[in-house]
Amino acid sequence: MAKLIDGKAIAATVRAEVAQEVAELQERDGVTPGLAVVIVGNDPASRTYVNNKKKACAEAGIYSEEYALPAETTQQELLDLIQVLNKKQDIDGILVQLPLPKGLDEKAVIEAIDPGKDVDAFHESNVGRIMIGNFHFLPCTPAGVMELLRSEGIEVAGKNCVVVGRSNIVGKPMAMLLLHQNGTVTVCHSKTADLPSVCRGADILVSAVGKAKFITADMVKPGAVVIDVGMNRDENGKLCGDVDFTAVEPIASYITPVPGGVGPMTIAMLLKNTVTAAKLHCGLAQ
Ligand code: GUN
Repeated sequence: MAKLIDGKAIAATVRAEVAQEVAELQERDGVTPGLAVVIVGNDPASRTYVNNKKKACAEAGIYSEEYALPAETTQQELLDLIQVLNKKQDIDGILVQLPLPKGLDEKAVIEAIDPGKDVDAFHESNVGRIMIGNFHFLPCTPAGVMELLRSEGIEVAGKNCVVVGRSNIVGKPMAMLLLHQNGTVTVCHSKTADLPSVCRGADILVSAVGKAKFITADMVKPGAVVIDVGMNRDENGKLCGDVDFTAVEPIASYITPVPGGVGPMTIAMLLKNTVTAAKLHCGLAQ
């Protein structure tokens, strides 16, 4: 029987720490961190994520603004808004919720964000900083996974870490953060030969694939730590991760549930990045 990693509880602790830091910043330095959240179109999942982000900001004492644009917004209109937000004094962090509607160029939008306000850490200069290990912001989901491991006292150094999925948002930065902690990291993808055997070599298995029941029991070494970044719907429309939880849970030593595992951490780390951005902007951090 695996120990469940309670992302909701760990995220609550991080959020309380952030709220404490925001209160201190306000009292001591008169600084209120500010986040602008941009949502384009009406994807229901994006709407839920954005609502949760705004609520979390309010609870932590972070000022937030929402910019909800119609699906027909042009690239130029979106870039113009980003230029305004880049200059806006009361905004420390800018988050453009992805995916963007068809016709909009996500890469160009991300690159238009001031890297010092890029609290998603998607801008190529922030990605480069992460590669070198000289970063201000870490991408929220991989950073959330690292915080779960740290909080459970799970040592990464010397462990075989297998990341399934190579997206720019999760898989690639996840691999880099595990490497920074001296894990021996393998990144798997759709062309990986004999994926089950590679996964079975993992002491720490992180799945970020986006397919329900993708990680089956035969892919997990007994005693492995299993981190499920997936956010999918099963055949009954119920929220589930990438891991066949019922089959894998008896084999693993630790496992994250979906919901209530990695998901809550993503928002907690976004709040942390917004506070970091505010400290950078007012000269309280370098
Ligand atoms: N869509 C899904 N995850 C994310 C995220 O972490 N940041 C942004 N901006 N959009 C997302």
